[in-house]
Amino acid sequence: MPTWIVHGGKKLKGKLKVQGAKNAVLPIMAACILGGGTSRLTNCPELSDKNASIDILRHLGCKVKCCNNEIVIDSNDVCKSYIPHELMLKMRSSVMYMGAILARTGEVRLSKPGGCELGSRPIDLHLKALKALGAEISEEGGEVYCRAKKLRGANIHLDFPSVGATENAMLASCAAEGETVICNAACEPEIVDLQNFLRLKGVKVSGAGSSIVKISGFAPKEFTFHRIMPDRIAASTYLCAAASCGGEIILEDVVPNHFYTVITSLRAMGCDIMCGSNYVRIKSSGRLKVGRPIVTKPYPGFPTDSQALMMASCLKAEGTSVFVENIFENRFRHVPEMRRLGADIRTEGRVAIVTGVKELSGAPVSACDLRGGAALVLSGLISEGETRVYDVGHIERGYERFEFALSSLGADIKRQ
Ligand code: UD1
Repeated sequence: MPTWIVHGGKKLKGKLKVQGAKNAVLPIMAACILGGGTSRLTNCPELSDKNASIDILRHLGCKVKCCNNEIVIDSNDVCKSYIPHELMLKMRSSVMYMGAILARTGEVRLSKPGGCELGSRPIDLHLKALKALGAEISEEGGEVYCRAKKLRGANIHLDFPSVGATENAMLASCAAEGETVICNAACEPEIVDLQNFLRLKGVKVSGAGSSIVKISGFAPKEFTFHRIMPDRIAASTYLCAAASCGGEIILEDVVPNHFYTVITSLRAMGCDIMCGSNYVRIKSSGRLKVGRPIVTKPYPGFPTDSQALMMASCLKAEGTSVFVENIFENRFRHVPEMRRLGADIRTEGRVAIVTGVKELSGAPVSACDLRGGAALVLSGLISEGETRVYDVGHIERGYERFEFALSSLGADIKRQ
């Protein structure tokens, strides 16, 4: 795996067009197989997770062309309902294909995703939703097999507003007869993007963005064109970087409302942030003071994906910051690595307490997950001397040309 070498101490300056959203493009790529036809997706970020998804689509029988952030997927000849373990392993979000393949072929077999860096990651809510639609489910040899002669619309109540379970339920119910109502659905903007795509594909769906989503029919279209929404977590990442490094940057092609909680938290720390309809500008002296506690929650609460990034911004802030992680059990894995740079962080279960230090000094660190890894890069940018970030493959799962984006803003970061 390549390594990135970061030299800290540079202020950030300039404009950056933010990538398309990883968490929107992956479920939408799975949705492309519904009903056949050809889909053209633009603003697709160049990511290793996207490439893993393309491998799955090709395995299923799709013809896929990729060029310059655009993907064209012809799914007329989908002929398989099985995803082998090697393909499932490449990307956890491949579980999204469960609902889509079931809707397309009436059955699906895939290996059950195991735990990951963030914790045990069960899929019980996904399976419960598919069962409610009439699927028979069996599990054997580490694989899940779902089959349904006919899917029927149903009331699905999610015990927790899981993003993935909401998306899987939406995808499967496209093939159901009658109306499906998903209650306690996740409200994340990526669910709205999925709804927008499904509508273009001919699905009657409404309510995404609220906790009740309804699906009631599908008249497949031969051709669908959709632009993937901007990535709110990538946008938060660059904001957090500018906040702690200091400087002034403008992020273009963003929807500031999608990461409003991050903006208000950074404002409370002393950053000057101005929002337009599709851009955000941040000015920061780099000398931050502690703001409000960061408590992660489902959208519209503070995103768990931005927790580690915000923690990086607090490492040198004046005062003591509190973080409460409510979504994933194992989302402080960046903490021991941040301590290697000299950070003062105590953790107790779901809570982390960060006491700002005057100086951090560069050290070798290892990315242990996607956002935690990006947070280590941000920590390196405010450390004296050299920080080598190992295992950056984790970061490349979700950020398009991260090191180039940061160096275009004046950061000193190189690949080795
Ligand atoms: C998605 C995002 C991820 C983000 C997360 C929470 C994608 C590709 N990934 O992941 O970046 O961090 O939302 O915003 O969109 N759970 C269960 N049973 C289930 C499903 C989930 O107990 O069947 C639990 C999970 O273990 C976790 C919580 O619910 O503790 C939230 O998970 P979920 O919303 O499903 O996250 P993902 O869709 O996997």
